[in-house]
Amino acid sequence: MRIQSTSEIPYEVYVNPAIYDREMEELFQGPVWHFLGFESALTQEHNYFTTEIAGLPIVVVKDHGTIRAFVNRCIHRGSLLCIAQTGRISEFSCVYHGWTYDLTGQLTGVAFERGIQGQGGMPEDFNKSEQHLRSLTVQNYHGVIFASFDAQIPDFETYVGPDIAAGIRRVLPRRPVLLGRTSQLIHSNWKIYVENNRDSYHASILHSFFTTFKLNRLTQSGGIVINAAGGSHISFSKRKQEVDDATYDAEQLRANKDDFGLKDPRALRFIDEFGDQISLQILTLFPLTVFHQINNSLCVRQVIPRGVDQVEVVWWYYGFEDDSAELQEARLMQINLVGPAGYISMEDGAVGGFVQRNSSYAEGAVGLLKMGGYDHLSSPSRVTEAAIRGFWKQYCDHLGETIV
Ligand code: FES
Ligand SMILES: [Fe+2]
Repeated sequence: MRIQSTSEIPYEVYVNPAIYDREMEELFQGPVWHFLGFESALTQEHNYFTTEIAGLPIVVVKDHGTIRAFVNRCIHRGSLLCIAQTGRISEFSCVYHGWTYDLTGQLTGVAFERGIQGQGGMPEDFNKSEQHLRSLTVQNYHGVIFASFDAQIPDFETYVGPDIAAGIRRVLPRRPVLLGRTSQLIHSNWKIYVENNRDSYHASILHSFFTTFKLNRLTQSGGIVINAAGGSHISFSKRKQEVDDATYDAEQLRANKDDFGLKDPRALRFIDEFGDQISLQILTLFPLTVFHQINNSLCVRQVIPRGVDQVEVVWWYYGFEDDSAELQEARLMQINLVGPAGYISMEDGAVGGFVQRNSSYAEGAVGLLKMGGYDHLSSPSRVTEAAIRGFWKQYCDHLGETIV
C-alpha cells in the first residue's frame, strides 16, 4: 500500500494490522518524543509514577535529582515492576520471583541466584552486571517530562522547532501541577484522532457549542503554525475583544437563532492569563501528544493507540501552584468544555468512529485533504488542512511512502 500524496490518504492506513505493527515498532519506538507526565508528580527523591507509551508500560522515577524512565518490565519473565500509579521506592522489586534493580535500572538481586545447598540456581555465565532495564532518553521541558526510545534523538526543542517550542512555553510559564485526569476510549484508529486535532476546518462546523457561544469562529484572527518537519502544529485564535466577567451579559450567553442558554456562565469565562488575548491554542506534537488551551482550560492529551481500531485519550488537566482561586475555579469549570463528555470535544470521538466504520471496505478509496491547497505551510487562515498534510509528510518520512 502506497501513500501517493499527502492530500490523498488511502483508508487502508486506518485498518491494516500490518501498518499498525510497523507503527508500533518503527514509529513509536523510533526517533520521536513522547509525553510521560509532569515533573511535579516527583516532588521527593525516589518518587515514581507509571504511565505508558502506545501501550508499552513505562515507569518514571527520580533518583538523586535525575529523572529516569524505563520500560516497566522485569527482564526475567516480563512482569510489571511497579504496579501502583504513584509511589516511593528505594529499588525496583519484582513481585513475581523477587528480582531487584537499583534506580539506574541495573539488576542487583536474583532470588536463589546460587540455588539451595548447591542445587539449582542460575548458571555461571549469568552476569547480573550485564542486565539492565530497558531505559529511555528523558528530557524535562519546563516541568513536562518527555521521553524517546531513541538514544540519538535531537533534544526536544530541536525536534519540535522554535515556533512550536515557543507555543509550548507559552502555556508553561511556570511549573505545571496536575488538577486531574479523565480518559476516554474512541472507536477509531489513532491517526484519525490525531488528524482531527490538526483539523482546524471542522471546529466551527462540527462543534456547534463553539459557534453558539461565540468561542471560536473562523472569522476570528488567528492562524496555523506548522513546523519544518510537518507533523507538529499550532492552531490559535484570539478573542475579538477582551471578554471578562464584567462584560459577560445575558445577551452573549444566547445563541443567535436558537434559544439555547447556559445557566452558569462560568464555563465560558476567559481570563487573559498569558496577556496575548489568545483564547484558543491547539498544539500537536508528532506523533501522539496534544497540548490545548481552551479559554483557561489547560491540558495535555496523551494519545494511546489500543489496536488498529481503538485509541484511548488521557486528558491531563493542569494548572500552576500559584493559581489564584479565580483561575483555579475557571480551570475546573472549563473541564466541562473538554474531555470525554465535553460540550466541545465529545463530537470528535463520534466522528472518529464514523470515519473508522467507513474505512474497512473502502478498497482503493482515499480521503481528500485539499482544503487550502497542497502544501503543509503555516498560514494566517484556519480554513486549511495543511497541518494534516504536514502530519502525513512526517509520517512518510518515518515509515516511507510504501507502508506495507
Ligand atoms: S518476572 Fe520478575 S522476577 Fe520473574
Ligand atoms: Fe474537534
